[in-house]
Amino acid sequence: MLLDRFGRTATDLRVSLTDRCNLRCTYCMPEEGLAWLAKPDLLTDDEIVRLVRIAVTELGVTEVRFTGGEPLLRPGLVDIVARCARLEPRPRLSLTTNGIGLERTAGALREAGLDRVNVSLDTIDPEVFHRLTRRRRHGDVLRGLAAARAAGLAPVKVNAVLMPGVNDGEAPALLAWAMEHGYELRFIEQMPLDAQHGWQREGMITAGDILASLRTRHTLTPERLQERGSAPAERWLVDGGPYRVGIIASVTRPFCRACDRTRLTADGQVRTCLFARHETDLRGALRSGRPDEAIAGIWRTAMWGKKAGHGLDDPSFEQPDRPMSAIGG
Ligand code: GTP
Ligand code: 5AD
Ligand code: SF4
Repeated sequence: MLLDRFGRTATDLRVSLTDRCNLRCTYCMPEEGLAWLAKPDLLTDDEIVRLVRIAVTELGVTEVRFTGGEPLLRPGLVDIVARCARLEPRPRLSLTTNGIGLERTAGALREAGLDRVNVSLDTIDPEVFHRLTRRRRHGDVLRGLAAARAAGLAPVKVNAVLMPGVNDGEAPALLAWAMEHGYELRFIEQMPLDAQHGWQREGMITAGDILASLRTRHTLTPERLQERGSAPAERWLVDGGPYRVGIIASVTRPFCRACDRTRLTADGQVRTCLFARHETDLRGALRSGRPDEAIAGIWRTAMWGKKAGHGLDDPSFEQPDRPMSAIGG
């Protein structure tokens, strides 16, 4: 088990497969991209599968999510999924992606054993998409979403970050679109994890703003609390249900007390939290020939040191050195 001193158990592992991305979302990275990790520093496919196996068989992990950067850019993705799906006990497998390339790979991923996908899409307007991501790939994302649904990856969730002055008026339109297509929409409060360190609390669109905007068109009633568990999204029934819209209010309504996550970066570091200022090296342990039990022990010790919360409201809060794209959302 991966326990921490605040009584939480991490059963949900998020694995970043690459720090690279084919979009340049303004809330994430600069136009020119970042200094990407060098190939020899990345975990190999075999190393990833070994760590997932250790997590599942020795440490009680039951959910594995692959993230990036953009995980579809990792050549071995389908094979990694297939190998993880053969583990005993079989973990639930999901993917967080920007959707580009999903049109081609959704079927193979489903066959390999992927259970579900979360796709980032902040706007239904191609021009706004271009402003937000600096790329003209809106159509690719829409086709990727449709392919995911057709392949039976369910539920298909859509993640939308609202940015002031760019797409903050779009919440009701996004909701109407998601309801029409049967995608489970979640709005995400922007977090201070951008490479440019440009996040400002004053300007950000809060869960309160999003609810107010949606309530101009809909009645929203909160889902019963016990249905939330450790999920980051709080959900509301739209016009009495059954459709639910989610809000991930990491900043204004933190959910750290119920956190069940452990993270692995593409270069093999355990992060106990998105906002952790300390990482634990598993790649070195793997490459120096340590046995599974030793690696499990290092991982356990790392998680025991997990902080109570992200500390965004502490005067001493400092944004982590690693940006979101290199942590894996
Ligand atoms: P589900 O299991 O489908 O609910 O996935 P998820 O919402 O945990 O994952 P996803 O990758 O879609 O992330 C959606 C948003 O939630 C992103 O902005 C993540 O950064 C954020 N998020 C995920 N995990 C955490 C966490 O542990 N803490 C905080 N504060 N935010 C998180
Ligand atoms: N704050 C909140 N969410 C973010 N994402 C990327 N950067 C940020 C940020 N600074 C979202 C992406 C994706 C998910 C993994 O995290 O849009 O949906
Ligand atoms: Fe890429 Fe995701 Fe960052 Fe956008 S938020 S640039 S899709 S890693």
